Amino acid sequence: MMILITTAGKVGAEAARLLADRGERVRVLARNLEKAAALARSGVEVAAGDLDAPATIDAAMRGVSSVVLVSPAIPAQELNVVDSAVRAGVRHVVKVTSKASADSPIARRRGQAEIENGLIASGLGYTLLRNNAYMQNFFMSAPSIAKESSFGSAAGDGRLGMIDTRDVAAVAAEIALAPASHAGKTYWPTGPDSLSFADAAAVLSKVLSRPIAFEPLTIEEQTQAMIEAGVPAALAAMNAQAVGLFAEGDCDYVTGDVPSILGRPARDFEQFVTDHIPAFS
Ligand SMILES: NC(=O)c1ccc[n+]([C@@H]2O[C@H](COP(=O)([O-])OP(=O)(O)OC[C@H]3O[C@@H](n4cnc5c(N)ncnc54)[C@H](OP(=O)(O)O)[C@@H]3O)[C@@H](O)[C@H]2O)c1
Repeated sequence: MMILITTAGKVGAEAARLLADRGERVRVLARNLEKAAALARSGVEVAAGDLDAPATIDAAMRGVSSVVLVSPAIPAQELNVVDSAVRAGVRHVVKVTSKASADSPIARRRGQAEIENGLIASGLGYTLLRNNAYMQNFFMSAPSIAKESSFGSAAGDGRLGMIDTRDVAAVAAEIALAPASHAGKTYWPTGPDSLSFADAAAVLSKVLSRPIAFEPLTIEEQTQAMIEAGVPAALAAMNAQAVGLFAEGDCDYVTGDVPSILGRPARDFEQFVTDHIPAFS
């Protein structure tokens, strides 16, 4: 059995590593072979490809039984993967997604809905992982936490059931390996707790052994901060819009999906910070 993972970002690279560690055959589609070099050394097959180039996806799809579909979620690109999977006779696609809906104010969520619907209509076996916000988003604030012992956000008092991308990857890998009992299902993976950003600041302070302050931002300030962190302007505006929804409680929920699929608890925010102390120091 061969599992294909498109692409080799945070979730994809970790899912590939987990499968390779278990001795499973796993391939990643990556456009930048240099970035995937460490994966290749750990036993993952790396296929050079681009989600805008269907022939390269078809080449990566040869002999594949399950796909983990994870990428920046541009509909045309991910639907290229779905079409390729149909041509190749793939059995199952695990789609990494978010709070998708066709009438969301957030363009990415409308795009996710378009991809989900295309996947469902394809007739392939599928599982949707509609993940809560990623703990790894805190890496965008890492320079300011390291230098100024503070971080800003427009999330206000909103609480989030944030999930560690390592757990998203573990869930995706597990389902790709044994899809039968997960076919046609939609999961809402979260971490174990719903935390406000003030709560997150308290955890950061405890683990880093110095006070870390949370500074509320307006949506405009949030957009500017993301642009300064290197996010393209249009994407920064969309992400800040999503953070504005966090303030309204949009991500304030916790589910038991991670423990029920993995048979162990989801990582909490304290674990996430503890495992990345150098990034915040
Ligand atoms: N952030 C959140 O809070 C959150 C919450 C819920 C769901 N999600 C969902 O999670 C998914 C993103 O997962 P992630 O965080 O693992 O992504 P990521 O770390 O941003 O990685 C994206 C990967 O896609 C690659 N890529 C981009 N364009 C490509 C192309 N044309 N051809 C081949 N590869 C390409 C990138 O390669 P390069 O390195 O070469 O650019 C990178 O390796 C999205 O569906 C998002 O909506 C995110």
